[in-house]
Amino acid sequence: MSEEIQKPPYQTVKGVHDILPKDHEYYTFIKKVVRHRCRQAGFRRITTPVFEFTDVFKRSVGDSSDIVNKEMYTFEDKKGRSLTLKPEGTAGVVRSYIQHGMSNWPQPVELYYIEPFFRYDKPQKGRYRQFHQFGYEIIGESDPALDAQIIYLSNKILEDLGIDQLFTLQINTIGSAEDRERYAAAIKDYYYDKERYLDEDDKRRLENNPLRILDSKNEDTMILNQSAPKLIDYLSEESKQYYQELKECLEELDIEYQENSLLVRGLDYYSMTVFEFWDKTEGAQNAIGGGGRYDGLIELMGGQPTPACGFAAGMERIIAHMKREKVRVPQKDDLHVFVAQLGVEAKKKCLPLIVELRDKGIRTMGALGKGAIKTQLKLADKFKVPYTVLIGLTEVREGTAIIRDMKVGTQKTVPFDEVAENIMELIGEENLDTYSPGELVY
Ligand code: HAM
Repeated sequence: MSEEIQKPPYQTVKGVHDILPKDHEYYTFIKKVVRHRCRQAGFRRITTPVFEFTDVFKRSVGDSSDIVNKEMYTFEDKKGRSLTLKPEGTAGVVRSYIQHGMSNWPQPVELYYIEPFFRYDKPQKGRYRQFHQFGYEIIGESDPALDAQIIYLSNKILEDLGIDQLFTLQINTIGSAEDRERYAAAIKDYYYDKERYLDEDDKRRLENNPLRILDSKNEDTMILNQSAPKLIDYLSEESKQYYQELKECLEELDIEYQENSLLVRGLDYYSMTVFEFWDKTEGAQNAIGGGGRYDGLIELMGGQPTPACGFAAGMERIIAHMKREKVRVPQKDDLHVFVAQLGVEAKKKCLPLIVELRDKGIRTMGALGKGAIKTQLKLADKFKVPYTVLIGLTEVREGTAIIRDMKVGTQKTVPFDEVAENIMELIGEENLDTYSPGELVY
């Protein structure tokens, strides 16, 4: 009789995932690269709370964005306050910049983050309800050279992760608030007698933030957009000059880009520079990251007028690309040694030995259960360790230990005090997992 396979009673919620050890190797590696490159460029890390007052996102990301309209995890707390799990990082960082008076810090303030975010998106490939981004913001100065530096940093990180060749950098300028006002009037005019071709989303966009209609995925609208007025024709000389300088800075840094006049980004806070890294084969569908300038946001959120620029990338999408490209990250979790023992006395001797091995940077697992040596050796095989240390009654009596090479099957007996030294030699100093928390200063 075939046994029916029972589904476990509890599963993850749709659109969210456990990160199992194998995938953590990728997350850890990406975090390491991001921390390293950000630190080199003078950024300091910030973590804002997982939830904020809903208005923080409504006001910043904007009422016309899909994020605010459809994708926020919003709930009331016990006192009836409306709170939202953060769907993106910029709003919280800006709130924090204002709340902590960071305008009094040396400017610009450069901050980076690596965090989980939450969007009630339709789960599909590369689109989850809990996902992770790394991102960074430069707040307090406006200069095309800063935008170029953010782009350079993003490109550098993708290069370090071995996937930069898979993307094209798309850039555009959406001009200043005044430019956009003029343009909004023109595009509304253009769509005046064409509204019947628009779906509900696009009608809403046209009403609330006409620029966003350029980002429509509706085929009819996409065709109409091709003959719509072009934003570039509504830019002031100053905005044009800014964009020109950005392109020159990118050229100076040897960064290839494609100009894309339809790129407007899905969040309302942008002004001037916008950019995205697109998958060469899938285009906008699977952007790995995006960002831009948001000069009006800090004032909109209650601070002094302060220019700013930033970027964020999706870590799940990056990992999917790394796997597709067969990019392997350094393995840091593999064990070096398994310590097997037999008898109460042997077990006691093993405890300080395990501690010593670990302290010396040897990744060690101790089988301190009661199984027979043979069972323990089988276990060592399953953990794929290169070496096993065996201590039985004889070894305890003689003050020795056996070191077994698990691949070849040979073994040798060494004095108990020299086990660590022998193992270190076998695995090589360069492979030791030594750790120093850094010097503490009191
Ligand atoms: P965003 O374009 O909304 O920008 O998100 C950045 C990246 O996060 C996307 O390109 C994508 O890789 C990833 N992402 C977004 N939603 C999902 C999802 N549902 N599942 C998986 N990955 C996702 C921002 O969030 C802005 N805050 C970026 C920024 C920083 N602009 C200025 N500073």
